[in-house]
Amino acid sequence: MPDSPLVAFQEEFLSGKPAQKDYVHFSEVNCHDLDLWIGRICRSVSLEFLHEILFTILNELLVNGCKANAKRVFFREKSLNLQEPSDYKKGISLFKFQFGHHRTELFRQLENTEYLVNVIAKNHPQYLEFKVSNNAKILEEERNRINQRILASEKYKNINDAYKESVDSEESSGLGIVLIHILLRNSGVKEKFFELKTEEHLTTVTVRIPKLLLPIDSQTKIRNILTQEVESLPPLSAHIQHLIREVKKKDSDWHPLAEEVKREPAVTAEILKIANSPLFGAHQKVILMEEALKRIGLKNLESILLTLGARKILNGKYDKQIAIWSHSFKVSLYVRFLGEQIHTYAKFAEVASVSGLLHDIGRMVLLSLDLSLVDQIRVLKSEDNTQLSEWVEEYTLGITHSEIGYMIGKKWNFPEEILDVIRFHHKPWLCRTSNEVYCRLVYLSDIMASTHRGKGNYYTIEPEVLSTFGIYDEKSFQELLAHLKRKYESKKEEYERILS
Ligand SMILES: [Fe+2]
Ligand SMILES: [Fe+2]
Repeated sequence: MPDSPLVAFQEEFLSGKPAQKDYVHFSEVNCHDLDLWIGRICRSVSLEFLHEILFTILNELLVNGCKANAKRVFFREKSLNLQEPSDYKKGISLFKFQFGHHRTELFRQLENTEYLVNVIAKNHPQYLEFKVSNNAKILEEERNRINQRILASEKYKNINDAYKESVDSEESSGLGIVLIHILLRNSGVKEKFFELKTEEHLTTVTVRIPKLLLPIDSQTKIRNILTQEVESLPPLSAHIQHLIREVKKKDSDWHPLAEEVKREPAVTAEILKIANSPLFGAHQKVILMEEALKRIGLKNLESILLTLGARKILNGKYDKQIAIWSHSFKVSLYVRFLGEQIHTYAKFAEVASVSGLLHDIGRMVLLSLDLSLVDQIRVLKSEDNTQLSEWVEEYTLGITHSEIGYMIGKKWNFPEEILDVIRFHHKPWLCRTSNEVYCRLVYLSDIMASTHRGKGNYYTIEPEVLSTFGIYDEKSFQELLAHLKRKYESKKEEYERILS
């Protein structure tokens, strides 16, 4: 998607140009728009995991700002003086009732006034800054309430506790501030991240989120550990490397190639399994190697061999890889199904599907590393919320699994399309080669295949990418997802055999 509005937005934002949203009033109807805007900002600076937390906090601040404006208009209409204690007492309960039951009316009144709420996001080298303003001076009482929320966050040890409590109790307002506070406090961030400023006709709340949670020397240390780890990986087996060289020869013949594969019983068994798997839409079982290779096709064979080679090394070196492999096979199948469903993608699905087998290879190294030295990671980590911990971990480390995967792929001489898929599967719009279409397919499939883990949904996907798949609303997204899920469930058993 060259020169798309998304890329333009990202480039401008990264260059330091502020992004702004203005609202006369803010309510549920504006949430989707705000959500998309925050999503874009988070993706621009690779802090995707902040999306939800930022949405909670900005939504809350905008509603508060809008409520404060509405309060002023309401008091003015009723000829009551906000600063006068007796008037305040008289008016506030009436206002609360009005805000609770006749909000639309209050909002309509706002439309005829000078009052506004807005949010400005700005990218600084060290931090991400959000300023939420409304053009009314804050009252002492309103200021106290905000300060109380910050104090309340002291009692939570980690983000998970705060989340749980907010789900259990009615008192969920103020959660955003609490979350950001815990996150930054636990990370050892000492700077002021939250600031409330009042001028005569303006109240501004500033939230600053550091882009690096660890001091630069710790980050360098971690980068070195990871680089050494990747360097310490052995080369792919001589047999696999030999086969790949053979496959790359233009005149390679099926029969001698099949004979070469059969030299290694383990590789033989794996290739037969894959050829008979739903990845290659098999109806009839193949037993002969030559047939198996034909079914896979020369074009895909290199990726399959690389996957087998990588799997052998990584499984031997690190524990608990099954979940990532099974996720990768699932994503790969989803790519196939997307190709079957959306005709314009049919011709790209095969290559994308086999490249997708290796998309999360960096996670295997990242998650297996002993980073217990880094204290901050332990406090942020939660046992039952994998989504949070994964992003938080990358945020803390300052390196993503896509980067690590790319380093591994380079070491093992992966072809360009696999390297691009690994690097850009969370940001296909950054891929500037013709492989972008593969990255896009894996991006969507990856999110669709992960929705059951609560990881991503319609709103976390970049709308510009969705439109290239002909998806313009949540309903069509859900329909497609349901279709893919059904198809996957029907193939699940066959597919699980590949991993056994
Ligand atoms: Fe990934
Ligand atoms: Fe993934």
